[in-house]
Amino acid sequence: MAPLGAAVRYVAALSPKFHWVGIYILKKNILELGPFIGEPTEHTRIPVGTGVCGTAVAENSDQNVPDVTRVPNYLSCSMKTRSELVVLVRDKRGRVLGQIDIDSHLPEAFGPEEEKAVRKIADELGVLWPA
Ligand code: SME
Repeated sequence: MAPLGAAVRYVAALSPKFHWVGIYILKKNILELGPFIGEPTEHTRIPVGTGVCGTAVAENSDQNVPDVTRVPNYLSCSMKTRSELVVLVRDKRGRVLGQIDIDSHLPEAFGPEEEKAVRKIADELGVLWPA
């Protein structure tokens, strides 16, 4: 788990706008919460297809949600959260291993710069991901 914990700490330090940072690990059809920084969440197991996190896996595509109040299947971790970024972590063959999930109390917290910085970590993590 060491690389995952290190990645969470690194991502959390990227911006003061990142209020919750966690890694979900894909196990069969469930995303299981790994290391995180921020308030504890009840969403420790999220089925693929559910919420923003599960949608990212189902659609094989990162999710940048500028306003979570506009997402019908959003799973709320904190009443304070206004925007969310989910970046998928893949192995070298492109298979999804998990994801980096970031919540912000600010709306539209995630622009191209933030996406690029988190994508870089996600790509590095794909190589270091524990078997
Ligand atoms: N908001 C996510 C759930 C995870 S929490 O943000 C930590 C979702 O809708 O899938």
